[in-house]
Amino acid sequence: MRPLLHLSGLLLSCLLLQSGPLAAQPLQLPEPLEVLPQQDPAKVELGRALFFDRRLSGDGTVSCAVCHIPDEAFADGQKISGAYPTNKHWRHTNSLLNVGYLDVFFWDGRSRSLEDQALGPIHSSFEMNLNPRFLVAKLREIPEYQELFVKACGGGATQERILDSLAAFERTLVVNDSPFDRYLRGEDEALSAQAKQGLEIFFGPRGNCGQCHSGPLLSDQKFHNLGVAELPELISDPQHRTTRNFFLGEMGLPPMERDPGYYAISRREKVLGAFRTPPLRQVEQSAPYMHNGSLGSLSEVIEFFNRGGGEDPNKSKLLKPLGLNEDEKQALEVFLRSLSGSYPQVRAPRPPGL
Ligand code: HEC
Ligand code: HEC
Repeated sequence: MRPLLHLSGLLLSCLLLQSGPLAAQPLQLPEPLEVLPQQDPAKVELGRALFFDRRLSGDGTVSCAVCHIPDEAFADGQKISGAYPTNKHWRHTNSLLNVGYLDVFFWDGRSRSLEDQALGPIHSSFEMNLNPRFLVAKLREIPEYQELFVKACGGGATQERILDSLAAFERTLVVNDSPFDRYLRGEDEALSAQAKQGLEIFFGPRGNCGQCHSGPLLSDQKFHNLGVAELPELISDPQHRTTRNFFLGEMGLPPMERDPGYYAISRREKVLGAFRTPPLRQVEQSAPYMHNGSLGSLSEVIEFFNRGGGEDPNKSKLLKPLGLNEDEKQALEVFLRSLSGSYPQVRAPRPPGL
């Protein structure tokens, strides 16, 4: 008995030494991101051509890539997105990295597939402003496009094939080799000591970020109200107001002096001002942040959560003031920066037929 007892005592003290006497239960880390199914290369090529083609807009000036800029993590670096000429948008552009993993799209979750999502910007009056049926007619008259469609889809241009190909292209925009990803796959040295401290804050009780930024994508794909303040210009500027109230009207809602978020879809008062938790890969490259781009940097985001979020009667009960010290805030930021890896360096092809 003696030696055994001795051994278990030793084990116990090793454990205490490793985690410190105050450490709680072991961290619940997400599973690594799985590899997405390989996309058909011909569809991806067609999708890439469409993604960069300004002829997908009414006046021939706006392509998907105008707002989802490859070098800006497929976001656009602006608070509020650009819009169809002479108009103004009302929301911040999402990054498209890792969208292939999502089941719920847009800040308010109003779309449930990438194929469905892609129709939105094409016909939206304040984005690309083109009748999709007219787009099909245009593409059918361009022999080079016709060839690409036949190669990718076995037939000429249709709305469905346009949307399928755009979605296939978007599913190739993956980041899964960040230091954090490598750490999850067992490379202990992929994260610095400071990044590991940040990881503990993120997933542990100090920060509780992982309650919502959960799972391999670091998003629960659910809706939470954080009390992010409205941007004053969205309320005061007539063009921003026009866009918001037009959008609300299309959703069957009366004009409002705020962004209703998920309420526009679910119509429950409780979710007024709730937005989908964004996935966080490459987040250091997609500033500014939040549905209205109102927070300019990662350190502002961390300060925001450290205060317990903003003010709103519907604010999530999961947010509490955190009392992080400077050292902890730094570590959390270093961790967020460890979510960056490499992603396909996509360039615009020569527009087919031009
Ligand atoms: C005028 C700017 C603009 C153009 C053009 C545009 N987008 Fe977007 N995109 C946005 C904005 C802004 C959002 C967020 C809107 C919202 O949530 O209501 C968004 C959201 C998305 C999302 C959802 C991402 C997520 O995390 O849920 C996808 C996917 C997407 N766009 C793909 C496309 C594709 C494909 C095209 C071209 C057919 C396109 N976009 C054209 C500005 C634009
Ligand atoms: C209650 C759920 C919840 C918790 C807890 C939470 N987040 Fe978030 N996070 C969200 C939602 C929802 C948004 C988007 C809110 C909006 O746009 O109004 C967001 C936005 C962000 C963004 C901006 C991303 C972008 O692309 O705009 C970052 C960065 C972020 N969170 C990091 C953190 C960190 C770090 C913590 C912990 C200190 C944390 N979050 C805790 C739900 C949460």
